[in-house]
Amino acid sequence: MNSKRGTSNANLPFVLVNMAMSADGKIATANRAVSSFGSARDHENLLKLRATADAVMCGARTADLSDINLGPGGRRFQRLRVRRDLPEYNLRIIVSGSGSVNPDAEVFKQGFSPIIVLTTPRGAKQVGKSLLHLANEVISCGKSEIDFTAFLKWLRRERGVKRLLCEGGGELNDALFRADLVDELHLTVCPKIFGGRSAPTIADGLGFARLAAAAQFQLKSSRRVGGEMFLVFVRQRRAHNQ
Ligand SMILES: NC(=O)c1ccc[n+]([C@@H]2O[C@H](COP(=O)([O-])OP(=O)(O)OC[C@H]3O[C@@H](n4cnc5c(N)ncnc54)[C@H](OP(=O)(O)O)[C@@H]3O)[C@@H](O)[C@H]2O)c1
Repeated sequence: MNSKRGTSNANLPFVLVNMAMSADGKIATANRAVSSFGSARDHENLLKLRATADAVMCGARTADLSDINLGPGGRRFQRLRVRRDLPEYNLRIIVSGSGSVNPDAEVFKQGFSPIIVLTTPRGAKQVGKSLLHLANEVISCGKSEIDFTAFLKWLRRERGVKRLLCEGGGELNDALFRADLVDELHLTVCPKIFGGRSAPTIADGLGFARLAAAAQFQLKSSRRVGGEMFLVFVRQRRAHNQ
């Protein structure tokens, strides 16, 4: 197990993924109309996690489809950050391989902290046309696909990011799981069933083809609050002979 990676690995940030999911494992309805369905307690949990992170990241469709600004979420959490020797506002990162982020997204309406758009060389051209005035930095990493390991190393080295919180969606999470970059998974299981075969889940994208290759986690804590379960899983290192 490698749960101390956040403090012991000088090259990469410690990566947390935080998601709310329905009891049938969906993170939004199939038509994407509903994606915010956790309780006030779940929202507070999200803001508490953001208050531990140097940077918060999400995928382009999450930025487009939800009303999120990826910020600390109020004075109380800003003060908490300062007490922890973190800047009052976290860095924000939006991932879009094709550079197709909606320039009208809520995240661009609030300029309290820098926004990095992470993309590919192809996407960087598109970002140049539509988002250059909104993003503080456009980072192109990899060739046809984003190289997340290289980006996280850059983030740690050049921006001093030691803890990175990823808030989905499923496609971005999958890329991080496949690159073996997720140290901790925070899941809120909500007592609802959404159904729908095309409803997104916490990890979509390409996925793993073999059980032996699957990302392995171990349950670290479970807490029931009202009708929701708050679960924390920590990454387990793969055995070399699997
Ligand atoms: N319940 C929750 O906790 C929760 C949390 C987050 C999101 N959501 C919901 O989940 C839905 C969005 O999830 P999603 O899986 O459809 O989208 P997503 O992961 O937010 O964004 C997908 C987009 O991000 C970019 N991207 C992600 N991984 C990439 C990679 N490996 N390489 C290059 N680009 C990559 C691509 O952008 P381009 O197409 O621009 O290249 C891709 O189309 C929304 O309905 C959202 O509201 C729910």
